[in-house]
Amino acid sequence: MKHVPWWQSSVVYQIYPRSFADSNGDGIGDLQGIRSRLDYLQWLGIDVIWLSPVFQSPMADFGYDVSDYCAIDPIFGTLDDMDALISDCHARGLRLMLDWVPNHTSDQHRWFQQSRVDSTNPKADWYVWRDEPANNWCCSFTGGGSAWDFDEGRQQWYLHCFLPEQPDLNWDNPEVEQAMHDTLRFWLDRGVDGFRMDVVHLIGKQLDRDDPVRAVARGLAHVVFNDAAVTHERLRGIRRVLDSYPGERASVGEVYLLDEAAMATYYGNNDELQLSFNFSFLWTKWDAAALRDRIKTTLSHLAPRGAWPTWVLSNHDVPRHRQRYGSSEEVARMAAVMLLTLSGTPFMYQGEELGLVDALIPADRVVDPGGRDGCRAPLPWTADHLHGWPHDPWLPFPPEPDTRNVESQQHDGTSILNLYRHMLGIRRSHPALREGGFVMIERDDDVLAFERMLNGERVVVALNLGDVGRTVDVLGGTTLLLSSLGLASRVGTTSVLAAHEAAVVVLA
Ligand code: GLC
Ligand code: CA
Repeated sequence: MKHVPWWQSSVVYQIYPRSFADSNGDGIGDLQGIRSRLDYLQWLGIDVIWLSPVFQSPMADFGYDVSDYCAIDPIFGTLDDMDALISDCHARGLRLMLDWVPNHTSDQHRWFQQSRVDSTNPKADWYVWRDEPANNWCCSFTGGGSAWDFDEGRQQWYLHCFLPEQPDLNWDNPEVEQAMHDTLRFWLDRGVDGFRMDVVHLIGKQLDRDDPVRAVARGLAHVVFNDAAVTHERLRGIRRVLDSYPGERASVGEVYLLDEAAMATYYGNNDELQLSFNFSFLWTKWDAAALRDRIKTTLSHLAPRGAWPTWVLSNHDVPRHRQRYGSSEEVARMAAVMLLTLSGTPFMYQGEELGLVDALIPADRVVDPGGRDGCRAPLPWTADHLHGWPHDPWLPFPPEPDTRNVESQQHDGTSILNLYRHMLGIRRSHPALREGGFVMIERDDDVLAFERMLNGERVVVALNLGDVGRTVDVLGGTTLLLSSLGLASRVGTTSVLAAHEAAVVVLA
């Protein structure tokens, strides 16, 4: 039998640690909180946890500004807590991926503190310094500001593709590359299974290339344009570090290019990233033709390389997908079925299993410079007024926490939470859905349908995105595994798919 690496057969669940579970009552989620909720994740049936950053950080970008890659920020706990979390996960058969931020550090990192002193110190060349801005790039989060800032001390300009508090590292310097490899080794030695790699396509840059003038005039950030050849050899270097450890340590890159052909090149020749996020898919509207097209385009660029797709609908940077798709519960349920049955590795974001939309954040409680607080709201665990948090959390809860909470939905057999759990169970028991082939069933209506097959088993997934029932011939005479409408009585032999229904069936 063909060996299937874990990062292909798994479902990954993203935890945003500040908003998952709080153990000590300071209103901020932490590592002990996560440890105390592993029962829930196992009950749900995910395989891998990805933690957004928990490293030491002044939190200008809520942990994506790291001041020490080898220390846990006290707000989240200690290194011992992390070691305990790693071993708890492994004892339960769960894997753990950390979030590695290779493009930039915090301006409070000792490397930058030293680098900014003058142009002759040993770290002088660890960041990108120039006597004047080398290009017209815009940074993210400041509404179109320049990616270059003048440092009064050093009397030079430094590059920051994100906040001024997040200076870009200079990966052209081999010492930087070595130091960053060492930060990977630090965590690999402690047993982590892999890394989500933050904006990893930025570690190689063509500083002499301006961004398109029209985009700059609109304030579009450089991150979506950066696609430099030199990055690929650096990714091969990172891969060699991962491959030098046993157990298939893996990477999933945040390659924030809205182009599948470009994104696909970051898998290299099976020697760069093992996985890369697919943001074109995330931003595709909820429309059968558009989704069909994106899925086929993605597969057509990845398949020839033997590269394994990923599918993600929500994360800590974008409005939640139920909201983007118009907030309907039926649509959120169909989206769950789609996410967990496409060919590739699905990534869930904490709370999507409750059908959450973003929290409304009153103006005086906005804290994120990028305006992303809504999707980062705390996870409601229970129906009572603190929703399982020992103290009021740092952000308001999402809407309807009295019913959209873990406890209430666990007890409601028809909830979206139980739909996710059921679907995850079906994935587990039907290898065709995890590892099988994929064929789009071509149609010209509102039904998105595809077949997954392995070793003679054929599973068909059909989603009716339209407002009227549709006949889907292939469903006739099949065995129903699941309907997103949760109608236990739906007869598997009917070939009619109700409006807003997704069905997963096994062909006889
Ligand atoms: C990535 C992260 C985002 C962060 C940015 C800068 O896009 O997902 O949260 O702000 O990188 O590190
Ligand atoms: Ca806490």
